[in-house]
Amino acid sequence: MSDLTRSTAWQQLQQHSQTMQDSDLRSLFTQDPERFDKFSLNAAGLLLDYSKNHLNEQTLTHLEALAKQVEFDSWRKKLFSGKHINHTEDRAALHTALRNCSQIPVRYNGRDVMGDINRVLDKMRQFSRDIHNGDWRGYTNKMITDIVNIGIGGSDLGPKMVVDALAPYQKDGMCSHFISNIDALQIDRLLATLDPETTLFIIASKTFSTQETMANALTARQWFLSHCADKKMIRKHFVAVSTSQQQVEEFGIDPHNMFVFWDWVGGRFSLWSAIGLSIILAIGMEAFESMLAGAHMMDQHFQTAPILQNMPALLGLISIWYNNFLHANSNNHAILPYDYALRFFPAYLQQLEMESNGKRITRTGEIVDYKTCPVIWGAPGNNGQHAFYQLLHQGTRKISIDFIIAIHNNTQTIDHQPAVLANALAQSRALMWGRNHEETRLANPKLTAAELEAHVFPGNQASNTLLYNRLTPATLGSLIALYEHKVFVESICWQINPFDQWGVQLGKTMAMDLLPALQTGEDKPACEYDASTNGLLNYIKSHV
Ligand code: F6P
Repeated sequence: MSDLTRSTAWQQLQQHSQTMQDSDLRSLFTQDPERFDKFSLNAAGLLLDYSKNHLNEQTLTHLEALAKQVEFDSWRKKLFSGKHINHTEDRAALHTALRNCSQIPVRYNGRDVMGDINRVLDKMRQFSRDIHNGDWRGYTNKMITDIVNIGIGGSDLGPKMVVDALAPYQKDGMCSHFISNIDALQIDRLLATLDPETTLFIIASKTFSTQETMANALTARQWFLSHCADKKMIRKHFVAVSTSQQQVEEFGIDPHNMFVFWDWVGGRFSLWSAIGLSIILAIGMEAFESMLAGAHMMDQHFQTAPILQNMPALLGLISIWYNNFLHANSNNHAILPYDYALRFFPAYLQQLEMESNGKRITRTGEIVDYKTCPVIWGAPGNNGQHAFYQLLHQGTRKISIDFIIAIHNNTQTIDHQPAVLANALAQSRALMWGRNHEETRLANPKLTAAELEAHVFPGNQASNTLLYNRLTPATLGSLIALYEHKVFVESICWQINPFDQWGVQLGKTMAMDLLPALQTGEDKPACEYDASTNGLLNYIKSHV
């Protein structure tokens, strides 16, 4: 047993979970009509209703004790103060400094980083102004109309999600595209629709060595040069976002066209940095700064609110409650936005949560004896209802859920919105309340006894609901920051480092190892791998 699972707080939660295991959500609401008032809170433009969970005051007291035991306060301070909490890479995780609208100095290795951050913001402000005003033009003097962000993982998912979510804020005449996959189908399809005279490519990569991004960047450059033979014109159509000037120059991009960020910004936390350039070109600097301000509001809330009035802390602790106690054998968490603007949010959160907390060793190198990150998945609400909700309503799995709901949407067609809201509230209620035998019989008097069971809804599925007025840049900023901090809170409880990602390396190395055999077309049969890989490789080679 680890120190954590042996600890008093953990043991008390374990014991308490025996009582709560069979708790019935319906009864909890019937017994306590104040449940919503007790178990909901507002912060930074968001309302969190966590009353539809298998918890009571006692549960919260135990979860708070766990947070204290794992030194929540001290870790929270370390996050904001530039300590090297990403110890395996010996660096800080200072993404909060990128949205530090207070401008209070943030020291990293003894130096205030705010000057560097503001310089890059100024450079992006000027650049976006030039693009939008037409002061920066393409090689035939036409205005830039299409922005293609080439990146993957954190250099793609965050910006792509934000640009799509804030489409109503899109600058007139600007069209945004995102290329990430190494399968050329994606880039070929896009290039076929673009005009090289009016297209700008952003090559976004923290390391500037990621295989997928570099392959796509080369293809984009070849495509551009196939239309414009003058290599000097590359500088009008290619800019780079990276931490590595050397790699950018080696690729052939003018360092003046480079927007920097720093090793203390993790890939999946980087949309606030120069990685957000595609966002700025889409929605403008002002809207981007509102997003930073929204995130800063959530940061301030997270930094100052006591644990049980702290939204990210509560979300994190509730996740621990299911993941490690109530649903310890089936840890699975669904993100269900009832705001179509957030259709890419589940995919974005998959990287944020699973790349951060998909770990099996503690900060001190021991293998954990408890579950860490749940499987995160999801899709926009109404689509999901007609696809996978059946399993949520009548399947055999316990799945915790976040409903994310906009009261107003950002379209002209407002008459759909009551139906969106009705569906969202109906689903969270139906999953929680269910429909018992008696109610089912009343609703369907003609059902035979055998048919009845299929029409019963067991209910008792827990969920959180996040509600906001309208998805503005500021609201989106605080929503993203909320989840970033939730992930951090979970990592504190699990005693793991959420800021490294060594688990992605082995596959990358093996791909590089296999590549020559597939490139050269040599006919010698492969025999150096396992039988399956050899067999597949040889089959592919015999078919090319
Ligand atoms: O492979 C995982 C990863 O390292 C992510 O953490 C990162 O967001 C992504 O690759 C892209 O990396 P880069 O920005 O260096 O191209």
